[in-house]
Amino acid sequence: MTLSFDDEGTRAIERVYATPDIVRQRAETLALLAPAAGERILDVGSGPGFLLAQLAEAVGPGGRVQGLDPSAAMNSVASARCLALDTVTITEGGAESLPFPAEAFDAVVSTQVYEYVPDIPGAFAEVFRVLRPGGRVLVLDTDWDSVVWAVADRERHRRVMAAWEAHLVDPHLPVTLGRRLTEAGFTVAAQQAIAILNPAHEPETYSAHTLRTIAGYVRGRADLSAEDVAAWEADVRAGDYFFSVNRYCVLAYKPASASPRS
Ligand SMILES: C[S@@+](CC[C@H](N)C(=O)[O-])C[C@H]1O[C@@H](n2cnc3c(N)ncnc32)[C@H](O)[C@@H]1O
Repeated sequence: MTLSFDDEGTRAIERVYATPDIVRQRAETLALLAPAAGERILDVGSGPGFLLAQLAEAVGPGGRVQGLDPSAAMNSVASARCLALDTVTITEGGAESLPFPAEAFDAVVSTQVYEYVPDIPGAFAEVFRVLRPGGRVLVLDTDWDSVVWAVADRERHRRVMAAWEAHLVDPHLPVTLGRRLTEAGFTVAAQQAIAILNPAHEPETYSAHTLRTIAGYVRGRADLSAEDVAAWEADVRAGDYFFSVNRYCVLAYKPASASPRS
């Protein structure tokens, strides 16, 4: 069962995505995408809209930024964030069927979204359709195998992380992203890892927020009792605190010679 992006889930995402760890992740993502003045950019699964606001600044008054997300709660937070930005439009909808005409965008970006999407070939065909020939797509996702958390009870930790991974359709999507984008007709130009490293348990870090989110999600699932989860949290926080995870980005181009697909 996936995470619920309702009002409470949206507030949790908004808080964690405001931490310096994710602010830096967005800066690295933007540097790789390199949005230019005047471009039309689609953010698939735009969530709380942090990236939309930064994209609007980058494309300037002559550009256009389109957010798309199936969660009404996310869209309401994103709309409030982008209220003063009249080049931003936010539409309710999903990655499986993009409600936009062919060749409508110069670039498509999507961060931490495709790991929730069951039909990746269909979703990437949609990205291909809405990009102009020569346009680019940047996809960022986590491979949850890349998590390093210092614990004494590794077996309990393994059970907790397995229960957490069940909230995603594909918790290991990054290893196949390059191939899948190539199969969808794109030419992969760059792949990059962005590491998040928290060598201490400090409140405004990605791992402090994620520890709470994981504990809340796994409690009562996969035979994990409230006591098991409390013991896991205590284990993570005891002794030498250490957390790291990798995000993986793929930047790919639609060939300039591509003919329109309907
Ligand atoms: C972890 S949040 C990431 C939000 C945003 N991309 C960011 O990085 O700040 C995942 C987002 O994906 C959205 N989402 C889930 N399933 C989706 C789908 N099938 N199509 C598009 N977005 C989806 C959720 O509503 C949520 O806003």
